[in-house]
Amino acid sequence: MPERPISSGPATNPVDPREKLKVAYQDVRVASSYDEERDFRATDVSLHYETEIIGLREALRGVRGPILEVAIGTGRLCRRLRDVGPSDMPYVGLDVSFPMLYEAKRSLRENLVQSDSVRPVHLLRGDAFQMPFHDRQFHAVVGFRFIKHLSPPNRGLMYKEVNRLLVKDGLLIFDFYGWRRRARSQEEGHRLTPPALRKELEESGFRPIKIYGTRHLLPALLSVPFRALGLKSPVKALGLLEVKLLSPIDELLGRSRGGIVVAKKIVDGKQ
Ligand SMILES: C[S@@+](CC[C@H](N)C(=O)[O-])C[C@H]1O[C@@H](n2cnc3c(N)ncnc32)[C@H](O)[C@@H]1O
Repeated sequence: MPERPISSGPATNPVDPREKLKVAYQDVRVASSYDEERDFRATDVSLHYETEIIGLREALRGVRGPILEVAIGTGRLCRRLRDVGPSDMPYVGLDVSFPMLYEAKRSLRENLVQSDSVRPVHLLRGDAFQMPFHDRQFHAVVGFRFIKHLSPPNRGLMYKEVNRLLVKDGLLIFDFYGWRRRARSQEEGHRLTPPALRKELEESGFRPIKIYGTRHLLPALLSVPFRALGLKSPVKALGLLEVKLLSPIDELLGRSRGGIVVAKKIVDGKQ
């Protein structure tokens, strides 16, 4: 589901929603304003973004082999994850849009921390549904603001392709729409409960092992004054509260307003 109207780009097949998502981000203006419009810049204070980073850092903590980020966009996640894991662990970012990859290259250069332990990121252009990698090459695949926009059949194709690329016990980590208000305007198939997520992931050879809620109402309300004052530390503390305290409660209750799912590859997907 494109977040901006499609203003230009290559010809597309209008019946395939995958094509729309590809074309939406070919526009240089969409790419260059992407981070600014969504509060993803280093100077922005966003509870949702901070919670996502805390959840991702925790999910990737034990990963020791190559990481792939599909639909990496402007690199907003990977530039905050460059010190996670061993310094020689490859991190590959794939996207179909040259303008988004250009932004990623620029932002990764600008946000480079002066430290020897910061690993390089390998960027390449490609289609996430047919990725140019050998089987079982990655230990984790990350895909944010991408998989959740796909229709259920296309999510199935995506899981299959990711399953092919992951080693056994490798992790698939992505964000999903839960039962929060904004999702009401989405098609039914985009809103997922934890049981529905479990079912579709298990059908593709994965087992969900963790869900981090990133859309809790109370922290969002509490964060308002801190965000207005530009104070990042208390906002990060509220993000920690979401990940460490509220997410386990969500799991117990089997509900989520939206968040991040961490799934482990259990078996090779069906061919
Ligand atoms: C909403 S942006 C998300 C970017 C980034 N993952 C984030 O979380 O900010 C969607 C991204 O998916 C990319 N994309 C869309 N279809 C794709 C495809 N078939 N293969 C690879 N990338 C694709 C777009 O170019 C765009 O960069």
